[in-house]
Amino acid sequence: SLQKVETFLQRSIGTDVVAAQPEAPTRDESDEKGGCKSLHALQVERQEQAARSVLINCQSRTREKTLLKYLSSHGDIKNYFFYESDDLYAVVEFAKRENVASLLEGAIIPSGSHESAVPFKSRLLTLRNLHTAKSPNQQSGQQCQVQTAFPITELIKNLSREDSIDQQITSLTETYQLTEENTRLRFLVCSLLNDITAAYFPECTIKPFGSSVNGFGKLGCDLDMFLDLDGISGWNVKTPKSGLFLEYQMKQASSARAVTQNILYVIGECVDQFGPGCTRVLKILNARIPLVRFSHKPSGFQCDLTANNRVAMKSTELLYLYGELDPRVRGLVFTVRCWARTQGITSGMPGAWITNFSLTVMVLFFLQKRSPPIIPTLDHLRDLAGPADKCVIEGNDCTFVSDFSKIQLQSNTETLEQLLREFFEFYGTFQFSKMSLSIRKGQEMNKPEMGPLHIENPFETSLNVSKNVNTSQLDRFVALCQESSWLLQQSETNKPKVNEDSYNVLPWGLATLLLPSQVATINTRKKKRREPASARIKSLLESLKNKNEPKMSEGL
Ligand code: GTP
Ligand code: MG
Repeated sequence: SLQKVETFLQRSIGTDVVAAQPEAPTRDESDEKGGCKSLHALQVERQEQAARSVLINCQSRTREKTLLKYLSSHGDIKNYFFYESDDLYAVVEFAKRENVASLLEGAIIPSGSHESAVPFKSRLLTLRNLHTAKSPNQQSGQQCQVQTAFPITELIKNLSREDSIDQQITSLTETYQLTEENTRLRFLVCSLLNDITAAYFPECTIKPFGSSVNGFGKLGCDLDMFLDLDGISGWNVKTPKSGLFLEYQMKQASSARAVTQNILYVIGECVDQFGPGCTRVLKILNARIPLVRFSHKPSGFQCDLTANNRVAMKSTELLYLYGELDPRVRGLVFTVRCWARTQGITSGMPGAWITNFSLTVMVLFFLQKRSPPIIPTLDHLRDLAGPADKCVIEGNDCTFVSDFSKIQLQSNTETLEQLLREFFEFYGTFQFSKMSLSIRKGQEMNKPEMGPLHIENPFETSLNVSKNVNTSQLDRFVALCQESSWLLQQSETNKPKVNEDSYNVLPWGLATLLLPSQVATINTRKKKRREPASARIKSLLESLKNKNEPKMSEGL
């Protein structure tokens, strides 16, 4: 991916209007020992970058050079790229915030004849070009950055061309991970929303969390946002012991939850009524975590806005940390998530399915159980924490080390291929009926309650993150783990196929695990009768030939 970023940066420098050197990608420049930047530092840098950026609908198909020349009259352009969703768009990052202000000052409010505009000004703009108005189909020749996930059938073909399962896992991860441009777009959409919320709370920030920033995001994943009001000055200021002081008069609600609901209600209304590009706004205020859900049309992102959700931010930080500790973590998480989605273990809809978050915790737990362990337990990360890392949220201890260099890893040399095989073996035979999973302890524990699947919430240990999962969904997961474990042991499937015809590659290794499964309808945990290997492989191959695409949405 670094190579991709480099190519992208070279292209940016290549234009004559780009005066300033674009910033280097964040992953390789570290301000902390151990080669990793904390998620917090990364967020601050990205937010600042987003605040200097604008999003422009370029439907008028103006030539790239002409557009950049026009824009750069307001200031130096540090970086830009084009992408297509419902239209052609450009993300343009200026060197300074003043440049954006200057650009906006010159923009005009549309004066439609039938419709009237809500005069809310934002950094989402449309480029009009009177010169090309007569030929709207003119091609402008911009190179577009893809923002959606690669089709699964193409992925299966590409994986089958790789020489080893390790390479297949790496290739899958590189294909699906968020690109530099997609990450920029995510932060920009948060920044645009921040402009709406800042109308009421000027000191607030909107931060992305979840898979947009935890290192496990796949192109096309939703954008989880968090309205952070903790930065408002005046909280937790000690009352003076003597003398005069002033206190704000504030509206009181019945509980902290009610405050969150009220704020989200109003913000949801504003997004709906005033937010350019925001459609299908839903206020889901009675959920355990109240949220506002909407589509941001220009980016194509499905957005979930929450408030006062600091534990989720902490778990995002924790997943990010684990993902940065060893490259095998991300490889395995991407692979297992992709496998689970193609096999219908996870779903885009809420229900009794295992969620991506639960699945990620399962992978982490498995990696803690290796011998020697590949990643440390959460208790160990807490023990390494310094005084500045201390964090208690609503009575829950969320403390863990932020300085990556304090973490000593053990020398486990297992390959990704071995780990994938072992993962399926591990969960194909796990005692789910008696045991729960705890990444805090790195050990299975006696189940405190009788739900089918019990995965301890890392920061609220009395909660089960997979409480929603029913028996039949767990049984499908186990059956599919057994099937995949079995497939990876078959000589027909675990070696590259001899390639007689380079256009017609036969699926092997990881690619076979992504083909439609035979256990899709199995919903009991009885051991299924196994067909002879050759028959099963044949039917798997047939299913690929028939272009039987696995049931998936999410742009796969
Ligand atoms: P995808 O959106 O599926 O790609 O993954 P995600 O990790 O973003 O999951 P999701 O959007 O469902 O949730 C966003 C974040 O909220 C997660 O990364 C977690 O930090 C947190 N989260 C989600 N589900 C749970 C849960 O059941 N318990 C807890 N404690 N946190 C959760
Ligand atoms: Mg998400």
